[in-house]
Amino acid sequence: MHLGRTTLSKFLIQQLRDIDGGSDLGALLVDVAAAVKTIAAMTAKGALGGFLGELDNLNIQGETQKKLDVLANETMIRSCEWGGLVAGMVSEELEAPYVLPSEFERGRYLLVFDPLDGSSNTDVNVSVGSIFSVLVHPRPGSPSEHDYLQPGHRQVAAGYAIYGPATMLVLTVGKGTHGFTLDREIGNFILTHPNLAIPARSSEFAINASNARFWEPPVQRYVTECQAGLAGVRERDFNMRWIASMVAEVHRILMRGGVFMYPRDTRDASRPGRLRLLYEANPISLLIEQAGGRSTTGRERILELAPDALHQRVPVILGSREEVERIERYHADFDAGTDRPFESPLFHERSLFRAELTV
Ligand code: AHG
Ligand code: MN
Ligand code: MN
Repeated sequence: MHLGRTTLSKFLIQQLRDIDGGSDLGALLVDVAAAVKTIAAMTAKGALGGFLGELDNLNIQGETQKKLDVLANETMIRSCEWGGLVAGMVSEELEAPYVLPSEFERGRYLLVFDPLDGSSNTDVNVSVGSIFSVLVHPRPGSPSEHDYLQPGHRQVAAGYAIYGPATMLVLTVGKGTHGFTLDREIGNFILTHPNLAIPARSSEFAINASNARFWEPPVQRYVTECQAGLAGVRERDFNMRWIASMVAEVHRILMRGGVFMYPRDTRDASRPGRLRLLYEANPISLLIEQAGGRSTTGRERILELAPDALHQRVPVILGSREEVERIERYHADFDAGTDRPFESPLFHERSLFRAELTV
């Protein structure tokens, strides 16, 4: 037995000691961690728990809810609503912000979360996670929808849990990104991965390649160049992974580098991406930046986007700094037309001329 290990509570007391409202923030993160332990226990039971499978209803996203989506959502709400720490909550699984029962005091924070990320993986026993973001409630009393629509750089804490072979909690309060592993015998999260740092260079990418025909040209260019490997312009071979749980992809990137993309695609004009800004892209972007990585839509830093709806979707490209900068450059080149030398005005005139000749 190792004595003197840094537990989550000890870590939070140390990190938040001199921050205004720090003890409330620490207490809220301990409540989130309690929910995470419960969700970890539910997911670990697998088929023995009776929690697998779908419900009949659709959520606000138009997606079929899994039993575990709903249970994880309830767990997070029950764990965090009672202590006078939050003023309200927003969840992927609820259309409107959650209004606290009147008996509970309104606190200074807003909690925004995806209770179960990668829930298509629950029934096949592949890693899933939970993602959360903490904002300051800008005024006293119950929050309105507008109070949640804050840019990601205003988050005071963000994190995720990954329910994999080990359960881990990875979080930031704006002083680096740190990883904790759940010691199940003792029931504590132990600091095992302090000051995570994403390697700036990497040769691994993650993207759902079945959508390739819908991607924009800069993303197609990047992936095609990676696939060309040693013989191509990148002059090295790349590896690819796709787990379909963003937390699991992000966790791998925090451990060994790489790029994750769920880019803009042309499948549905009303959806400029797959992932949701407030409770997926923003918290993950803060964790990535705090670990020295980069996170962008391809054209804008995600943490600077001004949200206009609770469940708004955004393109997401994040990970190792040099690779993400390259993909941003490809977007800029594409938007300026400088990646298409054969499409110069002269070329267009000649094409037109040719077209006229053939009429
Ligand atoms: P959620 O389960 O919360 O709806 O999120 C799933 C997300 C994300 O975790 C993952 O990267 C992506 O959806 C997978 O999408 P595809 O099924 O299109 O690959
Ligand atoms: Mn999700
Ligand atoms: Mn989810």
